Amino acid sequence: MRRFEDKVAVVTGAASGVGRATARRLAGEGATVFGIDLNEAGLAETFEGIDKGSHLVVDITERAAAHAAISTCVDRHGGVHVLCNVAGVLRTNHLADVTEDEFRLIMGVNVGGIIWMAQAAMPYLIEVGGSMVNVGSSSGLMGCAYQTTYSASKGAVIQLTRTLAMEFVRSSVRINCVAPGGVTTPMTATVEFPEDLDWDLLGRYAGFREMSSPDELAAVIAFVASDEASAMHGSIISADYGITTG
Ligand SMILES: NC(=O)c1ccc[n+]([C@@H]2O[C@H](COP(=O)([O-])OP(=O)(O)OC[C@H]3O[C@@H](n4cnc5c(N)ncnc54)[C@H](O)[C@@H]3O)[C@@H](O)[C@H]2O)c1
Repeated sequence: MRRFEDKVAVVTGAASGVGRATARRLAGEGATVFGIDLNEAGLAETFEGIDKGSHLVVDITERAAAHAAISTCVDRHGGVHVLCNVAGVLRTNHLADVTEDEFRLIMGVNVGGIIWMAQAAMPYLIEVGGSMVNVGSSSGLMGCAYQTTYSASKGAVIQLTRTLAMEFVRSSVRINCVAPGGVTTPMTATVEFPEDLDWDLLGRYAGFREMSSPDELAAVIAFVASDEASAMHGSIISADYGITTG
């Protein structure tokens, strides 16, 4: 499949996990990929197998940096047809131990990062009738113990997806959210849990099946981003092996 031939796709979080797999998937389908992340070495590794595109170290929590990144993409590659907001951070904690730094980090990346990138890219997406895919989480659809801020941030991703979908409903831009369950990435490999937690509560979010691979998520994101998903706008697409089903 070459669904992204002649299209420019911006992917945040492209240095790792789902973002890396998405960048490679879109490139494999013909896209010119502009990868954004904080991690320069990770970006370089992602782009080893990508012949069309470029990357940039950007902190998406900063509005000006997000706008400058989109300008750079347009200067280098001529426009933006697809924006995949994949970057995210996860921290778990007892409510009593949530700090201001942790709160600001999670909300800044998971919510602010999407808002700034969307704000910067929207004029270009409108020009071409493009597509935006935000990565949410099953944590945004169900209560998840010890994830107060993360869960709240992912709930916000779902609502900002719906809200932007309505604000831009008269344009031809499509705005959707893919909500994964567990995915085998550095995020899940390195997550630290607080002491004295109730493991029975956590078991509810593990589900009955295995975790997804980043490539499986990239396949869903690519479909939603592509013209094949032309009927989807404002949709929240769970890709969680049934975790939020019952
Ligand atoms: N892994 C899972 O089980 C899982 C489950 C549900 C949802 N998600 C979501 O999927 C997305 C991708 O997660 P992943 O598992 O691939 O994580 P990951 O940690 O492997 O990758 C996240 C990337 O985001 C980048 N990033 C963090 N802060 C940034 C910033 N300020 N500016 C630019 N880049 C920044 C990191 O450097 C990293 O490369 C996230 O939004 C995450 O919340 C993951």
